[in-house]
Amino acid sequence: MKVLSVVGARPNFMKVAPIHRALRSEGLESRILHTGQHYDEQMSDIFFRQLEMPEPDVYLGIGSGTHAQQTARIMMAFEKVLEEEAPDLVLVVGDVNSTVACTLVATKLHIPVAHVEAGLRSGDRRMPEEINRVVTDSISELLFVTEESGVDNLRSEGVPDDKVFFVGNVMIDSLVFFREKAAQTSILEDVNVEPGSYVAMTMHRPSNVDHEEGLTALLETIEQIGASYPIVFPMHPRTRNRFAEFGLQDRLEDVQNLTVLEPLGYLEFLRLMEHAGVVVTDSGGIQEETTFLQVPCLTLRENTERPITVEQGTNELLSLDPDVVSQRVEDWMLGEKPEGRIPKLWDGKAAQRIVKHLQERYAQVPTA
Ligand code: UD1
Repeated sequence: MKVLSVVGARPNFMKVAPIHRALRSEGLESRILHTGQHYDEQMSDIFFRQLEMPEPDVYLGIGSGTHAQQTARIMMAFEKVLEEEAPDLVLVVGDVNSTVACTLVATKLHIPVAHVEAGLRSGDRRMPEEINRVVTDSISELLFVTEESGVDNLRSEGVPDDKVFFVGNVMIDSLVFFREKAAQTSILEDVNVEPGSYVAMTMHRPSNVDHEEGLTALLETIEQIGASYPIVFPMHPRTRNRFAEFGLQDRLEDVQNLTVLEPLGYLEFLRLMEHAGVVVTDSGGIQEETTFLQVPCLTLRENTERPITVEQGTNELLSLDPDVVSQRVEDWMLGEKPEGRIPKLWDGKAAQRIVKHLQERYAQVPTA
């Protein structure tokens, strides 16, 4: 059995790494295709090295563009690859443009698609990732789900139960596997912060950073938090570009206590997150990672496709209101921390379960 796994953007790499490992250890043929949606050292290459993944077998070099351009370029290039590679199964993860583009192409060529991290729904169709999730799930053959809300969502959309498998969370597989190695990085010493004393921040959603009003509110939030606590902010290129575009760069540089970094590698970020007093983010994956690590997390969004992180984990949603956010950071830093528990099947073994299901589903039935 030959499986072609697709990666495109940063949050895909740590999801495919454990699946690739599990496929290989079962003696299945695992090939990796990188669309090149993310392409530079800090957004892509460093992850392959740190996650101990081989160089991609196929690299499409798609790069940046509008959603339509990116999606269309991936589709055209992927169609050619599928004709040459002829995999038995295409495996896609997450909700980025590469996920939906490759799912459309494979499905139309009658190659089954397995979607890992299926069923998540924010209910917000203005979010590009939500469109990608809905479309991918509606045409994939196998749907591997991280939390029980995903099973409910798929059922209510009419997906037959025999396509849906609740297997746990492959992103947590990577976290468990690499946690010790992350502990050996020197990131806390490099930025000169003590465990528990600082706020780790990431922010890149278009809804927060693409409009001047939102970005100004983010800056005010940073100023207010920075008045009391050190902030370490590895900045996504989208956000960096917007600060420059809206002329807010100088004001950002004036914030005391703020360390802005290039995007960090997987291991450095894991250690930074694990020892933060509070994490402030708008990421999807970080809500899950902080839940597993039981680190307090404020997610500056109106909704989440990962409700278990709020119901069981240490995550809380807040809108981007500087007074409210900085007050909650203050409360949590002073000790009223949210308590959480680790969700079911977030145990480091999700990829093994996925591979077992694939083997059962696609096992060769001997002919009489
Ligand atoms: C994409 C995903 C999002 C994910 C995020 C994580 C979609 C719709 N969005 O958003 O779900 O949470 O990745 O990072 O697929 N850039 C670089 N270097 C790179 C990659 C991008 O400088 O390696 C720049 C691009 O030129 C662009 C900006 O970053 O200006 C945004 O990149 P893009 O791929 O459009 O989407 P993300 O915002 O990263």
